[in-house]
Amino acid sequence: MELTIKQCKSLEGHITVPGDKSISHRAVMLGALASGRTIITNFLKAEDCLSTIKCLRAMGVDITESSDKVTVEGRGLYGLKESCDILDCGNSGTTARLLLGILSGQHFSSVLTGDKSLRRRPMGRITCPLGQMGAVFIGRKDASLLPIAVQGRNLKPIYYKTPVASAQLKSAILLAGLFASGKTVVEEPAKSRDHSERMLRRFGAEIEVDGCVVSVQGQRELRGQTVKVPGDISSAAFFIVAAAIVPGSDITIKDVGLNPTRSGILEVLREMGADIDINNYRLDTGEPVGDLRVRGSTLKGTVIEGDIIPRLIDEIPVLAVAAAAAQGQTVLKDAAELRVKESDRISAVAKELVKLGADIQEQPDGLIINGGKKLTGAVCQSYGDHRIAMAMSVAGLVASGKTVIKNADVINISFPGFTDALKMLVVE
Ligand code: S3P
Repeated sequence: MELTIKQCKSLEGHITVPGDKSISHRAVMLGALASGRTIITNFLKAEDCLSTIKCLRAMGVDITESSDKVTVEGRGLYGLKESCDILDCGNSGTTARLLLGILSGQHFSSVLTGDKSLRRRPMGRITCPLGQMGAVFIGRKDASLLPIAVQGRNLKPIYYKTPVASAQLKSAILLAGLFASGKTVVEEPAKSRDHSERMLRRFGAEIEVDGCVVSVQGQRELRGQTVKVPGDISSAAFFIVAAAIVPGSDITIKDVGLNPTRSGILEVLREMGADIDINNYRLDTGEPVGDLRVRGSTLKGTVIEGDIIPRLIDEIPVLAVAAAAAQGQTVLKDAAELRVKESDRISAVAKELVKLGADIQEQPDGLIINGGKKLTGAVCQSYGDHRIAMAMSVAGLVASGKTVIKNADVINISFPGFTDALKMLVVE
């Protein structure tokens, strides 16, 4: 599918965005490992989370989907069954990495694979600590690339210092830790999103958190829960930036998850001069939630670096669009992780924004963007990456004429309904 975006006058109105992707994955996984039933509302029915459901069903988990909820019949910590086929994680890094953690503690073997993009992404960072816990892996390049075969084992606890701040890595170790004989500890160089910790605690796990150090006590029963998934701030990000850079805009996005380990984008945009209000702030099922009102203004460049990077990692493509529309220079550093996402997002965003006329230079771990150049519509590629397709759509709203995004179906990985939501808000 090709998506055509026209320059717009403003964005106006109220919307909600679909459920949080990270929280949706974790809710079905923990639901499967818990005793009793888990009911999840506002679950993200997008391709990534459906990959998780498909893999869990293949291991004997009864999961039913209705229009307003997903129900998981928990099988208990040791109730998963060996799948008689390869588990296909599609495009989803979270599915593959978190399942590797769970599968490490099972008394059976599994084989995991994914699509072309996922088969290129690093898995050695996951199989290395899980191997230290006792699981056995076979795969290309020392089990650092999918497809990977896992032989689960009785696991021993470890204390692991992660080389990168990655919630997928932290979560894989914590999930394996559920099966270990003792206390498993993960220490990160900077704090990554903490949805696993919050949800594990809610399901009854013994979790301790001290800054960047998290521990879990193994072999404790989890109990099924009701989980209300907040709106995904990473999906909201496209509209937040769109409204912030189009003068005269005034939009409200309701019920957005505002977990501080995810809301770095709001801090950066405010620093750039964006007009963002948070209303109706509350805690819902253990996660902070609120309504965001964003009004258009003139943004200025900034520096994005250090510990804030993991707190806005998925929002960097669209923040690059904000920087291209802002006055002055924006420097992004310490973001080399972007090179191993669904695409090499540093290279992809630089190449595509240059096509529109932006002044943007690629750095090994970031970007230098000299904002305020006149943007003109062009034909852009998505690189098979949902967030690149949506970021370029936002750029198209401020580029003169028409911007065409090729292979835009990929948006369904995380945000089915994106184009409809955009149509609702855009005033042409
Ligand atoms: C995610 C963690 C992040 C993020 C990804 C989802 C998660 O990846 O980019 O979209 O749900 O844990 P890393 O853990 O690789 O940083």
